[in-house]
Amino acid sequence: MGYGKGIIEKYFNILPVNENTPVVTLNEGSTPLIKAENLRDKLGVGFEVFLKYEGLNPTGSFKDRGMTVAVSKAAEKKARAVICASTGNTSASASAYAAKAGMKSIVVIPKGAIALGKLSQALIHGAKVVAVKTNFDGCLKVVRELCEKYEVEMVNSLNPNRIEGQKTASYEITEILGDTPDYQFMPVGNAGNITAYWKGYKEINEKRGLSLPKMMGFQASGAAPIVEDRIVNKPETVATAIRIGNPASWRQAVSARDESKGGIDSVSDEKILQAWQELAACEGVFAEPASAASLAGLKLCLENKKIDKDFRGSVVCILTGHGLKDPDRAVKSVKKPVVVKESTEKVASAAGLI
Ligand code: F0G
Repeated sequence: MGYGKGIIEKYFNILPVNENTPVVTLNEGSTPLIKAENLRDKLGVGFEVFLKYEGLNPTGSFKDRGMTVAVSKAAEKKARAVICASTGNTSASASAYAAKAGMKSIVVIPKGAIALGKLSQALIHGAKVVAVKTNFDGCLKVVRELCEKYEVEMVNSLNPNRIEGQKTASYEITEILGDTPDYQFMPVGNAGNITAYWKGYKEINEKRGLSLPKMMGFQASGAAPIVEDRIVNKPETVATAIRIGNPASWRQAVSARDESKGGIDSVSDEKILQAWQELAACEGVFAEPASAASLAGLKLCLENKKIDKDFRGSVVCILTGHGLKDPDRAVKSVKKPVVVKESTEKVASAAGLI
């Protein structure tokens, strides 16, 4: 037994695994739920704000929860290769877990449209990386076709094992809070994650009678098919992780929204980047831009009075990926360092000490 538990060991009884499943794990899960007191003060709200920092999973995103189950089940079937389409994080996760399992991985990505950190992960883990001159939706279409023709295991969130693994985050949040939250804010791209959380909360509700949170999902305004109720052919956003125009789990996301009496709305790139910097500067939490759609969404709901600022309860914002995935964006978005000569006085002056 290693140090720490992965989610299969921790949640064995609620996952589609058995004693014969070879567990492929990098000790994912058990990510921190951070109390965001500075943000709470800044927003002037009466409720508690928590950040579920999924960027602290082994490959830096929530995908690892789903991938440990998907790759373990692929290993159980003696699959030799896994394949996925990706805006970056799924490819990073799939290639790492495939490496751990001694399997081949193939990742199909939109050319020039994934953050550098994510690309470097897929490459270093030894994936066969194929960049296609299309967007994510086009890549997913190709991958679905390949899976019909060839013996490869698809590890996109269309694979139900991914959803099963990812639902464990709902259990962790509930364990730490001692209850389900009142609201959950999260980004929505291909819509697998909102589907997974909702499944988790519904199970918890059935087993323990705890109330269901309102699921609040956010797309970027240039890539908001669910909000606009139409396929977006050319999705555009700085939040490349959620640059998706035709989500695979569209229907499930709409059910989560409606059943929970929550909402799915869109936030502009400007608001996403503002919230992203706020998370880093106010809370010390560096998430990737797409993750900040959750906080941008919370702020939008406060502005629109869709959520009462004085209610006493708990709100969880899911921060889906680590900021170091996309360092270019950070360097482009904030002030450059001051350059001075080697001199105590000059450094003191530039640092604002004198
Ligand atoms: N946040 C991040 C950081 C993501 O990478 C993704 C999805 C999402 C949010 C949205 O989650 O698709 O389940 O609604 N990334 C996928 C990928 C599409 O290929 O890495 P979703």
